[in-house]
Amino acid sequence: GEAAGPAVRRLADWSAADLTDLADEYGTPLYVTDLDRVRENAARLLDAFPDADVSYAVKAHTGRAVLETVHDAGLGAECASAGEVVRALDAGYDEVQYTAVNPPAEDLDIVLDRWRDGADLTVVAGARDTVSRLRDRGYDGRLAIRVNPGVGAGHHEKVTTGGHAKFGVPYDRAPELLAGARVDFDVVGIHAHAGSGISGDDLDAHRELVARMGALAREVGDLEFVDVGGGFGVPYREDDQPLDLDAVADATREALGDVDAELAIEPGRYLVADAGVLLTRVNTVKPVDSDGSDGTVPVVAGVDAGMTTLLRPAMYDAYHAIRNLTAERPERPVTVAGPVCETSDLFCEERPMPTPRRGDLLAIGNAGAYGYEMASTYNSRPRPAEVVCEASEAPREAGEAGGLVETASLARERETIAGVT
Ligand code: LLP
Repeated sequence: GEAAGPAVRRLADWSAADLTDLADEYGTPLYVTDLDRVRENAARLLDAFPDADVSYAVKAHTGRAVLETVHDAGLGAECASAGEVVRALDAGYDEVQYTAVNPPAEDLDIVLDRWRDGADLTVVAGARDTVSRLRDRGYDGRLAIRVNPGVGAGHHEKVTTGGHAKFGVPYDRAPELLAGARVDFDVVGIHAHAGSGISGDDLDAHRELVARMGALAREVGDLEFVDVGGGFGVPYREDDQPLDLDAVADATREALGDVDAELAIEPGRYLVADAGVLLTRVNTVKPVDSDGSDGTVPVVAGVDAGMTTLLRPAMYDAYHAIRNLTAERPERPVTVAGPVCETSDLFCEERPMPTPRRGDLLAIGNAGAYGYEMASTYNSRPRPAEVVCEASEAPREAGEAGGLVETASLARERETIAGVT
């Protein structure tokens, strides 16, 4: 529907003038998050999965305004740590799922304190041992068991979770563990997650995971929900096509089959990836050879963001679109590099783009998911600032995501060197 907005927002759709004004006002590197786009993405998900329980995997972006926006759209929260549980509850979520992966004792203590204080919590345990630790702490609330579905998918092997022993209990052991857990807990569901960044090509893996979960649900019976995880991918390359969510939803329902339990999903990236850009300023430009007189020789453009600001390219070789907001110039191969003393501190290698000059402002696209969240203070670099905007709240040019400046507010302050410990 109209409220759901277009299926993809490309970096080219952002207003260069607005982003430039924001960089001038707040400095760089700067994350810009458009809450309106978060809302559109949430609406599209709810449209495609009207009969499912949809939670937001908050690990993708835990900024307070984003959490509140997704909550207002009607989603629950899926959390991976005590910190995420606390942030989600503080942001107003009433239904919170804690997916405990090898949980530290302190995390369990903090989360169960919140439960004792009345939080409506579901704990997802991925090991028999975790179930025992919950029992030892007197937990007798809502429990789901995470299963290793034996099938995985994702944009990179480092984010493919299904099939890895680290996550979940072996599929064949799940019925026995579930039956035993019913004695002490309110056993409400089963859970599995294939991985992150699932594309149309991974639909078979997704179908297989869902079918296995459906079979397990029918075998054990008496469940409130079957959670088949998150992982819906978004287009990162300019020519990547968006997932057909309706097709994914149909495939999911069909694979799940006839179960007397609600379907649950928990996407993260899908809600926030294209709602965010990272702005960074060019500081140093040098040709890769000594002379550089040839106008087409590759150059290295040093920028003020690095792998400490946006880790994805260094960690997963992830592709992010990069746009020069300052000028249109003849293209040449450009390596965009950060200031960190690591060879992998690159945003792209010899990618054709307008020849950068010192002072140019670059925008890096799809930075809304796993961007700020994975920022670090390595090399004693302060973490960047973030502003949130609600473009719809201001008049905009047709076809442009304008209105960013008028509605911008500082969501996360830029760290200072003195603040880095
Ligand atoms: N549920 C569980 C249990 C998960 O482990 C994850 C992601 C999600 C849901 C959400 O997945 P999504 O819908 O966002 O794909 N830092 C990596 C992604 C790591 C995802 C880890 N788990 C990246 O930047 O690509």
